Amino acid sequence: MKVLKTLVTCLLLTSLVSCAKQSESKEKVIEGRVENLLSKMTLEEKIGQMNQISSLGNIEEMSVLIKKGEVGSILNEIDPVRVNALQRVAMDESRLGIPLLIARDVIHGFKTIFPIPLGQAASFDPKVAEEGARVAAIEASSVGIRWTFAPMIDIARDPRWGRIAEGCGEDTYLTSVMGAAMVKGFQGDSLNDPTSIAACPKHFVGYGAAEAGRDYNSTFIPERRLRNVYLPPFEAAAKAGAATYMTSFNDNDGVPSSGNEFILKQILRKEWGFDGFVVSDWASIKEMVTHGFAVDDKEAAMKAANAGVDMEMVSYTYMNHLKALIKDGEVKEKVVDDAVRNILRIKFRLGLFDNPYVDEKRASVMYAGAHLAAAKRAAVESAILLKNSKNVLPLNEAVKTVAVVGPMADAPYEQMGTWVFDGDKTHTQTPLKAIKEMYGDRVQILYEPGLAFSRDKNLADVSKAAAIAARADVILAFVGEESILSGEAHCLADLNLQGAQSELIAALAKTGKPLVTIVMAGRPLTIGKEADLSTALLYSFHPGTMGGPALADLIFGKENPSGKTPVTFPKMVGQIPMYYSHNNSGRPATRSETLLNNIPVEAGQTSLGCTSFYMDAGFDPLYPFGFGLSYTTFEYSNVKLSSTELKKENVLTVTFDLKNTGKYQGTEVAQLYVQDKAGSVTRPVKELKRFTRVELKPGEKQTVSFELPVSELAFWNIEMKKVVEPGDFGLWVATNSQSGKELSFKVVE
Ligand code: GLC
Repeated sequence: MKVLKTLVTCLLLTSLVSCAKQSESKEKVIEGRVENLLSKMTLEEKIGQMNQISSLGNIEEMSVLIKKGEVGSILNEIDPVRVNALQRVAMDESRLGIPLLIARDVIHGFKTIFPIPLGQAASFDPKVAEEGARVAAIEASSVGIRWTFAPMIDIARDPRWGRIAEGCGEDTYLTSVMGAAMVKGFQGDSLNDPTSIAACPKHFVGYGAAEAGRDYNSTFIPERRLRNVYLPPFEAAAKAGAATYMTSFNDNDGVPSSGNEFILKQILRKEWGFDGFVVSDWASIKEMVTHGFAVDDKEAAMKAANAGVDMEMVSYTYMNHLKALIKDGEVKEKVVDDAVRNILRIKFRLGLFDNPYVDEKRASVMYAGAHLAAAKRAAVESAILLKNSKNVLPLNEAVKTVAVVGPMADAPYEQMGTWVFDGDKTHTQTPLKAIKEMYGDRVQILYEPGLAFSRDKNLADVSKAAAIAARADVILAFVGEESILSGEAHCLADLNLQGAQSELIAALAKTGKPLVTIVMAGRPLTIGKEADLSTALLYSFHPGTMGGPALADLIFGKENPSGKTPVTFPKMVGQIPMYYSHNNSGRPATRSETLLNNIPVEAGQTSLGCTSFYMDAGFDPLYPFGFGLSYTTFEYSNVKLSSTELKKENVLTVTFDLKNTGKYQGTEVAQLYVQDKAGSVTRPVKELKRFTRVELKPGEKQTVSFELPVSELAFWNIEMKKVVEPGDFGLWVATNSQSGKELSFKVVE
């Protein structure tokens, strides 16, 4: 047996070594081809590779530019016949035959639309993220797209910011895990697989910290916070092999990312060893003039090129000024050579030189059964059960009539959420359609939207909705946000339900019937009032094409919710920014403070104590990070640490028992949080370090374990060095960020 084991190990090692050698030799071949091609290029052709245009529509017009070698990439061309026609011009009619890189924003699906990334993050399931990206890549590459501007992995802690919808929420670790999974899904096992598309982690970096949650606004993130909170997801994406990066619109402490040499060279290249290429965001180079960071386009081009932006998205400053900048010595030709090397390297890795065309004859892969099934699975796992009084959910056999109401019950376009340029609403399966088709034989369905769309203020039909609600055993109210209300440039200063949705919920509650409110939105909303009026509350961040069947199965009990909040839900906007991994301050809230309505008249100045809270909102959120209920219940017990004293090179093993103590099979997302009690700088009160999904049958108990290398407790400290500092640590194994029993351990020298 021992001999056999040794033999197998040797074989494995040999194959690993040979794989490494093979990829090394492939890389060597690619580097040789890059250098060989670069040596033949004129300066104009090099600058042409650094230029990305958005489709001009007219093929002939684009062909003229391509023939002259003035286009490296085209975004927003999605017709395979057109893509091949443009590619043929590049391959056969330009001097050097360099293929185009066709790009598109494929953020959460191409045709089969998955839940928005914030929804996918709620699943706490990297397989959901990877599978969603893989399906998107298969569908997008089938029309000739080989580069997507995703994953968006901006940490977002301000739901006023419309783009919170596009990322994975507030947490560094969750975003790192989900973002890396998306990179793997988009890029597959090998970039030169025709179904692989180059990923582009964005927006590098700190964009989600836009002051006041207003898109494109300035950020003020000091280096330590950048390194401890905002950069790790991008580093995880680099480790996952991301082929490209996109710079962000924001100026951080006065420096726009498209001109920020520190993040683009020191961090991305020197520290992380990234060898792909960096693209600007849409006109973000030219916008450095608007920022007041460059006096004109020429200076903007100079600052961006010297900072390390390899390709310019649509604003043409490189085409118009780089040649003169090189002539004037303000940009060295080596800068251009390096940029073009990075671009050509990715084009070679994608196999575009050998296989530039897409198979136009190939049968459509859009909406394939497996794709729809994956999208449904994602929507099921992304749904978060926030309230379930009297266990009204799942609907039992006694329920014979349901009233389906609300503007989101049958809103196929809205349900897909933001960034679905190629989504087709005729393929969306809405909750109304799904409930009718899947459960129409079990219950009588009464339908009245009550409002025409989420912003509708017309109360005329609210009474109609209330009337059918009064005749039902249970009311299913689908409310939330139209797609346009989140996403880029779509920020809100008020996060209450729009239009007359709140009035609709109140009218439905007045019927006295059990009210199940289902919210489909692009962000957390301040829905405390509606939550109080509802018997149950299910939150589904824009669930995509298969949201209807997913929600129907969840409501009728074929599926059991398992999602957890990937972002804190504030009670009111005034509490924002609000996130669980905050610092403690010197006067943390006790959570027993006297609130506004209980403060006596002429209360003494210091009678309320001096702690950090809001008199009108207290300290706690509506729902904390990591929160989500199930139709069953889970019990955590027997939490054990492998040691309570560890050295930096050790691995802490945490084991615990998890039991399903209810009557439904269900999945729990168990979470591991750690607190560094004291450091050379103040540290967050908690940080998520591990999570895992555990599926249990009723009564089943499993022993679960987390492996946490002590090295992962490292942070950027007072000397701006990433170190593990010895000292005391708290640890929680919990069902959300505000629960669990604290254990302690020490890190020693
Ligand atoms: C946009 C977005 C970016 C997107 C790009 C191309 O302005 O900021 O995320 O990828 O333009 O559409």
